[in-house]
Amino acid sequence: MSKALILGTGSCLPQKTLTNAELEQIVDTSDQWITSRTGIKTRRISGEGEENFRLATLAGQRALEMAGLSPLALDMIIVATLSPHKIMPSTACFVQAELGATNAFAYDINAACTGFTYGLDLASKYIQSQPEMKVLVIGSETLSTRVDWKDRNTCVLFGDGAGAAVLGGSEDGRGVLGSKLHSDGRLWNLLHMDGPESQNPELQGSDWEGALIRMNGSDIFKQAVRAMDDVVVELLEQQQLTIEDIDLVIPHQANIRILNKLQQRLNIPDDKLFINVDKYGNTSAASIPIALDEANKQGRVKENDLVLLCTFGAGLTWASLLMRW
Ligand code: ACO
Repeated sequence: MSKALILGTGSCLPQKTLTNAELEQIVDTSDQWITSRTGIKTRRISGEGEENFRLATLAGQRALEMAGLSPLALDMIIVATLSPHKIMPSTACFVQAELGATNAFAYDINAACTGFTYGLDLASKYIQSQPEMKVLVIGSETLSTRVDWKDRNTCVLFGDGAGAAVLGGSEDGRGVLGSKLHSDGRLWNLLHMDGPESQNPELQGSDWEGALIRMNGSDIFKQAVRAMDDVVVELLEQQQLTIEDIDLVIPHQANIRILNKLQQRLNIPDDKLFINVDKYGNTSAASIPIALDEANKQGRVKENDLVLLCTFGAGLTWASLLMRW
């Protein structure tokens, strides 16, 4: 059966770097606190001309260039984001227009930090049934527009950026081998963000918290470690593999302490775990594709390597996906 193979990757980070020292001027925090609790040293913040869809478009363009494909070759564009350019139309439609990918249909998905992995899974299923398809999957966020810059519990954690992968059919056994996706909406309250205030007088209530990220950090921490551990074990069992068989694990880059705990629980050697949270913070749906592109460009993934993605985010949502590169 055909498999969905990544043909090219790309990413785009805003120009401006915000350091922990600069954050000390914005909220009551310190480089020492942020570094020890999160591992984050810097994050990128969007400026003029760096709206979500522009970052997404550049990441997509770079992935297409690597794949040697014209935008006209695309059949489908998926953008995973929780910070869309507009609520309507989708960021994916802006990307489609910017790229000139007039043969592609396009839409957004929102599974928070898990969005890119859900998107890869979706692309993979399309390609399995229609191997001639070319699909661009992008994770793109401008979280700086949605964090509460007065809330030190959250504003130090997040950053902006975009990453992308172009997929097409493969008949040689390489590509997406399997995935496990989960959600638990009962725990939505641990991490959430309201939309715009209702304009319907009947529905204008006092429970509107503002369109800002709100989080119960310690509960999210525990859920993230447990869920990512479980979903990796579940996928490895399904594939009849062990962690020793995996060449590179690319986890969602939320917090170095979450990654350290995951590493301990799963026994992942240092050289098989990709980490860049120190540079970019948590870029939600963009974190895995940015990391994937960096790993690819650094030569950390070679043809036929087994690459495992695992992620966790608001929803709650969590997932793992295994591919042969
Ligand atoms: N600077 C200084 N002090 C701070 C800051 C800050 N930026 N933020 C919180 N504090 C304070 C708190 O107010 C609290 O003070 P208090 O004891 O006087 O009340 C103290 O530090 C300890 O707070 P805790 O919440 O216990 O700190 P904790 O060790 O749990 O670390 C953190 C907080 C980093 C948010 C942690 O819970 C975490 O990493 N959670 C996961 C969150 C995450 O990654 N979310 C991303 C979205 S989901 C995902 O992507 C997986």
